[in-house]
Amino acid sequence: MNDDRTNYIPALRYEWLTGLYDTVMDKLMHETEFKQALVRQARLAKNHRVLDLGCGTATLTLIIKQSFPNTEVTGLDGDPKALGIAKEKISRSGLNITLDEGMAFDLPYPDNSFDRVFSGLLFHHLTREDKERTLKEVYRVLRPGGELHVADWGKANSVKMRLAFFLVQFLDGFSTTSDNVNGLLPVFFNKADFQDVTETARYATIFGTMSLYKSRKPAHSFMTAT
Ligand SMILES: C[S@@+](CC[C@H](N)C(=O)[O-])C[C@H]1O[C@@H](n2cnc3c(N)ncnc32)[C@H](O)[C@@H]1O
Repeated sequence: MNDDRTNYIPALRYEWLTGLYDTVMDKLMHETEFKQALVRQARLAKNHRVLDLGCGTATLTLIIKQSFPNTEVTGLDGDPKALGIAKEKISRSGLNITLDEGMAFDLPYPDNSFDRVFSGLLFHHLTREDKERTLKEVYRVLRPGGELHVADWGKANSVKMRLAFFLVQFLDGFSTTSDNVNGLLPVFFNKADFQDVTETARYATIFGTMSLYKSRKPAHSFMTAT
């Protein structure tokens, strides 16, 4: 297992800020609106096996399971502190969700394990190399025809949105966030052999443009991407 944390960035950059993450996302980012839209676009069905990659405090994970109780939902994150908060929220909800600690670029799941992989605000935490390694892993664990649904910072659609995003860049670092604001996530999805890569929505937020993306592993894919 590859547990290299050299480039690891916690939810709000500093571990001591993790406890504030849900408040920031709720009060300043109005996260429910775009996370519900992400879940809707995935057209989940009964018995779908779903992975929420970089689940953090599990807000998106819970929206998935609450919206589609007949799915089998797993959340994975590398941060034990965020997972502790996630565990408490899940336990209060009474829902059956599996939580795993692990790294996005070295997933502890067999090939073709999931029908859908979601990821909310993970990719801007990863170096370009880790974005690429993570996409290879997502491709591997998705079944042929399975889908990847991502909400993350996208290309700023106004000067105001570009300026707002500097705050995220100061906090999370320029090297991991530049690819996002330069609109490169879809390029990486295509490069990792995903098909029908689409930016489905954009939201103007206090910290910049939040983009939703969807893409699909080809239905006749017998090999993992190299
Ligand atoms: C901004 S938070 C997003 C949390 C949640 N998905 C959401 O939408 O609110 C980013 C999360 O990615 C996790 N993370 C960062 N790098 C990771 C990696 N290499 N592997 C797994 N999780 C990672 C962090 O611990 C953090 O919980």
